[in-house]
Amino acid sequence: MKVTKAEIVISAVAKKQYPADPISEIALAGRSNVGKSSFINKLINRKALARTSSKPGKTQTLNFYKINDVFHFVDVPGYGYAKVSKKEREVWGKMMEEYFSTREQLKATLLIVDIRHQPTSDDIAMYDFLKFHQIPVIVIATKLDKIKKSQVSKHVQRVKDTLEIEQEDQVIPFSAETAQGKEEAWRAIQSYL
Ligand code: GTP
Ligand code: MG
Repeated sequence: MKVTKAEIVISAVAKKQYPADPISEIALAGRSNVGKSSFINKLINRKALARTSSKPGKTQTLNFYKINDVFHFVDVPGYGYAKVSKKEREVWGKMMEEYFSTREQLKATLLIVDIRHQPTSDDIAMYDFLKFHQIPVIVIATKLDKIKKSQVSKHVQRVKDTLEIEQEDQVIPFSAETAQGKEEAWRAIQSYL
């Protein structure tokens, strides 16, 4: 998709703030600091529309970005950051449950994992949660630029095995640094729009 227009619509914390717009939505999910916001920026060719940070916990709200007036990317706060209180985790859980279990516009979720590492128990829980809600999942194994080319297929297989990924779900190696995997990611997204 050639992106000619991208704008933030709203940063929401509760359902009543979600856009009323009936256009399709593609959400992101993944560990804190894994590269969700960077993924969005790379796909839409914008350096910093989605705010990124080298410190975990940058994204704290559900951020709706309207792309070409065709669909929304929904950036969400990450999970798995140790320095988070029980109360904050509860707020996060409620916000995620409210969005993922009720949003009719949601067509698919991009589960972003770090290609260097074995998916965590939180990643497995997120994958299972999305499957439970019958939301199509596209796994993006990001930070591809950080491993050797010869290691890619081994790491992709480890992601598949650890998540016990279902046959129909894709794992796409990706880098927000080099843009590798960008075309494949767009193709996968467009198949749900
Ligand atoms: P939260 O909003 O805190 O949940 O984080 P996030 O998942 O949105 O991560 P973000 O996009 O802010 O990126 C976190 C850090 O990882 C930043 O320093 C990025 O520059 C870096 N990063 C993201 N993607 C890549 C990538 O593909 N390659 C490399 N080398 N670094 C990346
Ligand atoms: Mg973010």
